[in-house]
Amino acid sequence: MGNVDFAALRTRFPGTENGVYMNVAARGLITRETRAAIDGMLDARLYGTANKPAMFELIERTRSRYAALINAEPDEIAITKNVSEGLNAIIASYDWKAGDNAVICADLEHPNNVFPWRNVAKRTGIEIKTVAHRDGQISPEAIADAIDENTRMVTASSVTFAPGFRTDIAAIGKLCRERDILFLVDGVQSVGILHTDVNDLGIDAMAVSTQKGLLGLYGMGFLYCRREWAERLTPVYMARFGIDLGDAHEAALGDGEDRLAPGARRFDLGNYNFVAAAAADASIGMMLETGTQAIENHVTGLANDLATGLLESGLPVVEAPGVAASSIVSVGAIGEGQHDSVNDPAMASLHDHLTENGVNLSIRRGILRFSLHLYNDASDVARVIELARGHNRSTN
Ligand SMILES: Cc1ncc(COP(=O)(O)O)c(C=O)c1O
Repeated sequence: MGNVDFAALRTRFPGTENGVYMNVAARGLITRETRAAIDGMLDARLYGTANKPAMFELIERTRSRYAALINAEPDEIAITKNVSEGLNAIIASYDWKAGDNAVICADLEHPNNVFPWRNVAKRTGIEIKTVAHRDGQISPEAIADAIDENTRMVTASSVTFAPGFRTDIAAIGKLCRERDILFLVDGVQSVGILHTDVNDLGIDAMAVSTQKGLLGLYGMGFLYCRREWAERLTPVYMARFGIDLGDAHEAALGDGEDRLAPGARRFDLGNYNFVAAAAADASIGMMLETGTQAIENHVTGLANDLATGLLESGLPVVEAPGVAASSIVSVGAIGEGQHDSVNDPAMASLHDHLTENGVNLSIRRGILRFSLHLYNDASDVARVIELARGHNRSTN
């Protein structure tokens, strides 16, 4: 695992050749091989040679590869469209009773993990208990304090979209497991980048999409749901692939018994995004070959170097005490601006300077967000630090 040739891997991503790409938290780069897999699917449509059994095989291989990536079983994975669909599938299929509550740190969640809770509160009358963040971090202690005997679900992002800290998922998972509370994770900012073992972490359900850390396309996601929990949930949406009809044809109606598919497969609906599946299949295959721990070590090492270099250049890197590096480095002050803009003129000017010099990054909640993946290297980090220093010199 220590012998991964990341320099060779980088050459598979043409997007690394023009400037510095540090924006996987919005969307990742894809490889030439992933592009070829996408082309293969489109060519089959162009020339009328698409083969449905092969397309279903692709889906099952992709499902199995994703399961292997997070140490789950294939039956614990549903194929979805995005994070929102996965989160909604779990939240809506729970049998909420009057007086139940769910716990969330809404300030740090992406809106797509806030709106579904507001909706379920309106529809069912349950209470959503919001806990405050601590130094920009989701706090297991605050969540523990909020949990009571009526808490049925807890949700958290494994890494927040801003400021991008890791959450202590294992600590929250333990709290939930001890109390039979469903722990629902938004894993989209970490899966594919940070080593993720859903069993070790005590995760009951986790939603991701494929365009970020999984280095695939928009319009496809995965929903992990631990078998024991999936079998306690009744999906609200139902279609052919959520029903277990053995080997029967996809158009079969069955005998009317409508037995739910095992595990998380019950959340599958109709036909899949086969083009996005071809992309995810190729990119996850590359990640499995590389090893998730090796990817995490590579990325967090670079992120650490970037944070250190920017701090030494006098920039306000957002840090939280005692938090291990994630793949995201944030610069600025939390709350200093809007989703896509910064109020602080110095930060706005630094952002413009970086982008004019070929650095691809984003602004989230007023903070400059640099996000890294396996294709980044030390030259990217050095370039950003050099540009930031040059900018500092010219403005001070
Ligand atoms: C933490 C997090 N959750 C969810 C999303 C998006 O959700 P969806 O895949 O439903 O568009 C993003 C970013 O786009 C995100 O950063």
